Amino acid sequence: MQLKNRREAVTATVLVAVSVLATLARTDGALCDKSDKAALLAVKSALGNPLALSGWNSTVACCSWEGISCNATTGRVTDLTVFALNISAPVPAAIANLTALQSVNLAYNQLYGSIPAFLGPRALPDLTFLRLDGNRLSGAIPPTATVFNLLLVGNRLTGPIPAAFAGAAFGDVELSDNQLTGDASALFGAEKPLNALSLSRNRFRFDLGRVELPEAMDILEIDHNMVYGSIPAAAAERKWLAFDVSYNQLCGPIPQGRYTHRFGAKHFAGNKCLCGRPLPPCAY
Ligand SMILES: *[C@@H]1O[C@H](CO)[C@@H](O)[C@H](O)[C@H]1NC(C)=O
Ligand SMILES: *[C@@H]1O[C@H](CO)[C@@H](O)[C@H](O)[C@H]1NC(C)=O
Ligand SMILES: *[C@@H]1O[C@H](CO)[C@@H](O)[C@H](O)[C@H]1NC(C)=O
Ligand SMILES: *[C@@H]1O[C@H](CO)[C@@H](O)[C@H](O)[C@H]1NC(C)=O
Repeated sequence: MQLKNRREAVTATVLVAVSVLATLARTDGALCDKSDKAALLAVKSALGNPLALSGWNSTVACCSWEGISCNATTGRVTDLTVFALNISAPVPAAIANLTALQSVNLAYNQLYGSIPAFLGPRALPDLTFLRLDGNRLSGAIPPTATVFNLLLVGNRLTGPIPAAFAGAAFGDVELSDNQLTGDASALFGAEKPLNALSLSRNRFRFDLGRVELPEAMDILEIDHNMVYGSIPAAAAERKWLAFDVSYNQLCGPIPQGRYTHRFGAKHFAGNKCLCGRPLPPCAY
C-alpha cells in the first residue's frame, strides 16, 4: 500500500489496530473463537466432564486443547477429536454450534442414542470427515449424513441406506458391523468419486450384477450380507487394495484380472455358485 502522507499512515495504523482489537474481542487468548469455546465447554459437560478432558479449561486457549484444532486466521474450531476415552453419553447437541467443523472423530467410546441430524453438511457446511465407529449408536442413519468420509463401523445401526445418499458425493463409506438392511446399490455409479466401500456383516440385499463400479473404487468389502447376482466384469480391471464378497448369494464366473487374483478363495467363499479362479473352475 502506497501512503501519500502522514495523515493516511496514521489512519491506516488506527484501522489495523481497530481490526486487531475486534478480532481479539471475538477470540480467547491465542485466537480461539469465544462462542466455539463456550460450545466446547457445553460438549465437555454433556460428556459428563470426564477426567480425560480436564485439560479443556480456561488456563489454556481452546485451540490448544487436546483433540481441538482451529483455523489460525479465524480462531474457529475445525477439528474435534474425542477418541477412545470410553465415554458413555449421547452425541452432544452442542456440537451443532461448532459451525466451522471440518472433521469430527468420536470413535471408540460408548456413545449411545441415534446419530443426530446436524452431523452433515446442511448444518455443518465444511464437514467432510465423520468417524463414529466403535460406539453403541442405534437407529437409522439420518439422510443428512452425506459426509464425504463417513465411518460408522461397529455400531447398532438399523434400517436402510437413506435415499438421499444416491445423489451425494462420497469418497469413503464404511458401515460394516451394523444391522443395516435393504439396497445399497445407490452408492455405486460410474461417475461417483467413491473409492472405498465397506458394508461387511450387515443384512444388505441387492443385485451386484447391475451396479457400475465407480472409476476410483479400489476397496470393496461386502462380505456377510445377502447380495445376489454376479460380480461385475469391470472388477477385473481394478487395482484392488481390498476385495471381499464372501458369504453372500452371488453366482457366475469370477472376473479374471491381475488384482482379483491377489485375493484367496476365502474372499469369494460361501456364495451360491461363484466359480473360476481362485475357486474351482466353472462347469461349462
Ligand atoms: C487445566 O489444563 C491444564 C493444562 O492442560 C492442566 O495442567 C490443569 O491441571 C487444568 N486445570 C484444572 C483445574 O483442571
Ligand atoms: C481459514 O479461514 C479463512 C476465512 O474463512 C479461509 O479463507 C482460509 O482458507 C482458512 N484456512 C484454512 C487453512 O482452512
Ligand atoms: C468403560 O466404562 C465402563 C462404564 O461406563 C466401565 O465399566 C469400564 O470398566 C470402562 N472400561 C475401561 C477400559 O475403562
Ligand atoms: C448454541 O449456542 C446458542 C447461543 O450461544 C445457545 O443458546 C444454544 O443453547 C447452543 N446450543 C446448544 C445445543 O448448546
